[in-house]
Amino acid sequence: TLLDLELEAIEKGGYDHFMLKEINEQPRSINDCLRGRLNASEGQLTLGGISDYLSKLRQADRIIIAACGTSWHAGLVAEYIFEEFCRIPVEVEYASEFRYRNPVIHEGDILIAISQSGETADTLAAMELAKSRGATVLGVCNVVGSSIARISDAGVYTHAGPEIGVASTKAFTAQLSVLSMIALKVAQQKGTISETRFREMLAHLEQIPAKVEEALKSEEQIRGISELYQDAKNFLYLGRGYNFPVALEGALKLKEISYIHAEGYPAAEMKHGPIALIDEEMPVCFIATRDGSYDKVVSNIQEVKARKGKVIAIVSEGDVLIPKMVDHVIEVPNTHEAFMPLVATIPLQLLSYHIAVMRGCNVDQPRNLAKSVTVE
Ligand code: G6P
Repeated sequence: TLLDLELEAIEKGGYDHFMLKEINEQPRSINDCLRGRLNASEGQLTLGGISDYLSKLRQADRIIIAACGTSWHAGLVAEYIFEEFCRIPVEVEYASEFRYRNPVIHEGDILIAISQSGETADTLAAMELAKSRGATVLGVCNVVGSSIARISDAGVYTHAGPEIGVASTKAFTAQLSVLSMIALKVAQQKGTISETRFREMLAHLEQIPAKVEEALKSEEQIRGISELYQDAKNFLYLGRGYNFPVALEGALKLKEISYIHAEGYPAAEMKHGPIALIDEEMPVCFIATRDGSYDKVVSNIQEVKARKGKVIAIVSEGDVLIPKMVDHVIEVPNTHEAFMPLVATIPLQLLSYHIAVMRGCNVDQPRNLAKSVTVE
């Protein structure tokens, strides 16, 4: 009815789609996630939900992360952060594979389940399995009181607010924020991070909402790029290190809502397959911000350009080298490399959104996809 339509327009807050609203909400949703937990000037980080489990986390021989879809990508970023800062081995598992393969689980193991909805059947089953074998199960969920939140021994909510668009955006950045906070807290407890470094990292994290706000300003430019590539048949996303999962997430966003075939790869793996696909018809999106793997990524960009691929590069602001090599650059503010995924993912969300809109796709409810997959 007309009333329903009007209500929906109000809920969309003036945006054409929930997805665009949710993309733009991220400075606030990340802030909501950090608020009351992180205080950089005091050097304080408080995660009430897991405070009783910090000693278990500190002593854990390993951490297993189980999730699906976008949440699994957040888990991959967390693997890099936990290993770097906490020196705990991490395995990131597709919940659906983990639950069916008779995995080795020890009593001291910790399983962290990541789920926006808290209802994903495979993730829930992975937790039940780990729990039955004596592991501690922690939840990182967005929906308060959801099944996953309820069966967790403890957990941290992402507090991103309701996410309506099927393609996850603000839940993803909130997951990254929570997982970063957990890792920093554990590192502090374990003594694998110095107090100075800890405080520096808190300061970096606190600045993320403002940097995401800044990254959102590229929307008009991204719309222009979207126009050029809306008819592409394939897309490749490449990144290394912390930005490798960002490449996977960029590709997933594009295929979910625009139905363009897209693949994400660690940039170095390109030469083991995807490089065969590169010609002047192939757009390749590099996440090439200034971090430990920057020089290596620059070489990978050269390899693509040598084969006439079209390159869109997400770069750190002020980069002077990459703009000379590629077809399009999108700048994002600089931050610590561990938090770069929070910022670098923003232009990729906008790129997939605009391409999907231009192709006339149903952005908020893409065909064949469900917001939460409660059947296996
Ligand atoms: C579905 C959704 C994705 C989501 C995935 C995992 O596929 O369409 O956006 O990432 O499920 O959902 P969860 O609620 O467990 O994060």
